[in-house]
Amino acid sequence: MIELIDIWKSYDERQIIRGLSLTVQPGEKVSIIGPSGCGKSTLLRLIMGLHRPDSGQIIIDGQDIVKMGTNELKGVRARIGILFQSAALFDSTTVGGNVAFPLQESGCFGATEIKTIVSEKLHMVEMAGAEDKDPAELSGGQRKRVGLARALARSPEIMLYDEPTTGLDPILSTNIENLIVKLNDQLHVTSIIVTHQISTILRVSDKIYMMQDGQLMPPESPQTIGTAGNVYTTFINGGL
Ligand SMILES: Nc1ncnc2c1ncn2[C@@H]1O[C@H](COP(=O)(O)OP(=O)(O)O)[C@@H](O)[C@H]1O
Ligand SMILES: [Mg+2]
Repeated sequence: MIELIDIWKSYDERQIIRGLSLTVQPGEKVSIIGPSGCGKSTLLRLIMGLHRPDSGQIIIDGQDIVKMGTNELKGVRARIGILFQSAALFDSTTVGGNVAFPLQESGCFGATEIKTIVSEKLHMVEMAGAEDKDPAELSGGQRKRVGLARALARSPEIMLYDEPTTGLDPILSTNIENLIVKLNDQLHVTSIIVTHQISTILRVSDKIYMMQDGQLMPPESPQTIGTAGNVYTTFINGGL
């Protein structure tokens, strides 16, 4: 379970997150929507422990990561996978090298084991056999999938997705959305998806939260959002 309690975060003098609280149950898929610049990526970086909040608690499986030192935080981070908006692949190595990277970095896996895991994760994202490809040869959708395989390398219990379908055409978008749902079903990971793509919100979420004024509004579901008659409905209808 992930629990954020009264989180505040500012950059320089600007307060971005203002008393935000959120609880995500194990296995739940939660989408976070909101205008550009409102702090969605910041929220993911806080959960990942890449930034520390000015105040508040971030409790992951009973432990407050805000109070943790670097080493302890590394242990928690190993259980969280993140797919960055740009996929952020290393162009200096192959597809296989990218997926192997977090495994090598951890120092916990032997070469044979790494090979097996890389092959398994590429298979999971429907990129089987792509180990020797150069990231530069890949399409946008394929880069996202390799980024996803890399995020999954260490079998995370929590997956964070930052705009996983932004900039993809509708078919590739659907493909990534189906993958997110499949991974969630098969691996029982808890997923937090930051997006402004309507199809993604409707296809992948159990709950949808809107970020406004540095906080999250009470959630809607894909079933209720279209008829809620509030700011969520306006968003879905393209008015926000
Ligand atoms: N490292 C940083 N230093 C200073 N300002 C930042 C930093 N990261 C983000 N910001 C600012 O904080 C605000 C929220 O950013 P972000 O979390 O990326 O928003 P979103 O993902 O919702 O578009 C933006 O105004 C952005 O310019
Ligand atoms: Mg962002």
